[in-house]
Amino acid sequence: MDPKQFGVSTLPYRHEPSGPIADELLVGSNKGKLAVVTGAGRGIGQAIAIALARSSANVAILDLSVESQERTKLACQKFEGVKVEAYKCDITDVQGVRDTFAAINRTFGPVDILVNNAGVAHGKLAFDETFETFWKAIEINFKGTMLCIYEVLQSMRQRKSGCIINMASRAAIVDMPRGISYNSSKAAIVRATASLQEEFELEGLGQHLQTYCLHPGGVWGAMATENTSIEVQQQIRPIFKDVPELCGNTVAYLASGRAKELRGHYFDCRHEIERVCSFGYETLKQYGLYNLGMKFLPGYENEP
Ligand SMILES: NC(=O)c1ccc[n+]([C@@H]2O[C@H](COP(=O)([O-])OP(=O)(O)OC[C@H]3O[C@@H](n4cnc5c(N)ncnc54)[C@H](O)[C@@H]3O)[C@@H](O)[C@H]2O)c1
Repeated sequence: MDPKQFGVSTLPYRHEPSGPIADELLVGSNKGKLAVVTGAGRGIGQAIAIALARSSANVAILDLSVESQERTKLACQKFEGVKVEAYKCDITDVQGVRDTFAAINRTFGPVDILVNNAGVAHGKLAFDETFETFWKAIEINFKGTMLCIYEVLQSMRQRKSGCIINMASRAAIVDMPRGISYNSSKAAIVRATASLQEEFELEGLGQHLQTYCLHPGGVWGAMATENTSIEVQQQIRPIFKDVPELCGNTVAYLASGRAKELRGHYFDCRHEIERVCSFGYETLKQYGLYNLGMKFLPGYENEP
């Protein structure tokens, strides 16, 4: 992938947590809250769960098996006073998700922070996969995300409090081969995040209820290696420069309510979060920054 095709940044990108999202500044920032993290068994989801536990939130972690979450659970339990529970849950299973959230509610009470992190990328050309594998990825990435959102929506609205953070990807905003299901499901997540925030704003709840979606950076791990040949892995390895904690700490920071100016928007964890916030919610919206958009020829505007 040639960076010149997409533009080369003149501002530095961050590849690991520092500044306002440094570990020590997050401690205690989510005390007393309950966070749910999907796909928490490994990779970025694991880092998110640990960062939230470090920020003193209680954490309910979800993945396809309880055993796969043992390491995450142990790491979260190291933080004093933090309660952690692991749940086996396939986020595409409607009844399974409902039962899991009911169980979480019985153990912890209502959810304050929902992090929809679980996702898959098959890395296949459309000719090389079936409709069923294409659709399965859409179901995990988009249906699973929305299903979990619907499980917390009414309660958050009634309590006038909550934060929903969805894992998108840079794949949502560029056209790339080997991932029609991935790219389109991630784009759907970006649009759903922004539209849901619009509904909160409509009710005057923007300061109380926030949605965000993220590009976590490029994190080398199972997702990049599981379905790719050694040859492709060698080609793509250089663009995976980021540690999972960059996203983990960004999530804890967003959940603490310190970056509400970004609500409804897509945020690339490699950008300087305080700088982006300093432009303000209205400016970001007015100029269509940090959201999906479409450009037309001069003279045509995006008229309703
Ligand atoms: N790794 C990257 O560079 C990168 C870049 C952009 C976006 N992302 C996104 O970040 C998220 C995490 O990526 P990662 O690299 O840590 O991936 P990963 O494959 O290491 O982890 C994903 C986790 O989700 C779980 N999962 C998969 N299907 C599930 C289902 N149906 N129900 C419940 N859990 C399920 C897996 O078991 C796994 O533990 C994904 O949404 C991914 O699309 C990753």
